Amino acid sequence: MLLLAAASLVAFVLLLYMVSPLISPKPLALPGAHVVVTGGSSGIGKCIAIECYKQGAFITLVARNEDKLLQAKKEIEKHSINDKQVVLCISVDVSQDYSQVENVIKQAQEKLGPVDMLVNCAGMSLAGKFEDLEVSTFEVKPYNVYVTVAYPPDTDTPGFAKENQTKPLETRLISETTSVCKPEQVAKQIVKDAIQGNFSSSIGSDGYMLSSLTCGMAPVTSITEGLQQVVTMGLFRTIALFYLGSFDSIVRRCMMQKAKSETIDKTA
Ligand SMILES: NC(=O)c1ccc[n+]([C@@H]2O[C@H](COP(=O)([O-])OP(=O)(O)OC[C@H]3O[C@@H](n4cnc5c(N)ncnc54)[C@H](OP(=O)(O)O)[C@@H]3O)[C@@H](O)[C@H]2O)c1
Repeated sequence: MLLLAAASLVAFVLLLYMVSPLISPKPLALPGAHVVVTGGSSGIGKCIAIECYKQGAFITLVARNEDKLLQAKKEIEKHSINDKQVVLCISVDVSQDYSQVENVIKQAQEKLGPVDMLVNCAGMSLAGKFEDLEVSTFEVKPYNVYVTVAYPPDTDTPGFAKENQTKPLETRLISETTSVCKPEQVAKQIVKDAIQGNFSSSIGSDGYMLSSLTCGMAPVTSITEGLQQVVTMGLFRTIALFYLGSFDSIVRRCMMQKAKSETIDKTA
């Protein structure tokens, strides 16, 4: 009886795996597609633009500094696969006037056609202690628009170097427990997940574990993905508790070190 139940379960899971591709979104064809990359003049955004260009896409780069944009354009154009491909540069601050951003995207669409893929990579991370920091969805599926949320690990970019300058010691030590990725590797994975219409994009086993653990009510792209999340959730939570324990011990050690040096300073 138990054997029969186990065999039925395995058969059911296999069936789900087999029908999964039938209900997953159709991958986006990059050849000839118009890809807009905000933050495309540097780091991860630039590598994503290169990866899409290598696969035949037309690119619009959006960032503020015109010299950096032109430099990135030249670098991207080296990877063309046909002479029709175009890299358009738009200098605009996406954190300012929304109507200006809307205007420039309209102009880009007039030149290169409707946007097939929007990569939002503009920005920077300012690290700091919580107490030091200042306070300061729409439904798209029916329109065949898919959203991919990427969780890049620490990635070797100019932005990351800048972020490291303000990182508290505890955060730096915690982030040093994993290695720093190359932006090309991160870009390849993000483009792969975006064209497949995957909701989350992660790199490496830690990234996979984190995106599974934080899936909550996030949509799934395939039955396979949903099944993997259901099956691995308990195991990943157990591993995560060990990670949290080790991060806590790093913070505790830093506090003890700080208290020790404060006592030495007072007695000196
Ligand atoms: N590197 C990492 O380890 C890492 C990890 C996780 C997440 N991220 C996130 O991924 C994104 C890209 O990071 P990155 O390391 O590739 O950074 P980066 O090398 O500094 O590149 C940032 C890009 O965004 C543009 N940009 C910044 N502010 C802008 C604004 N207001 N309007 C328009 N463009 C703007 C910059 O150009 P201009 O300055 O000329 O405008 C540049 O092209 C950031 O949001 C970062 O927080 C990075």
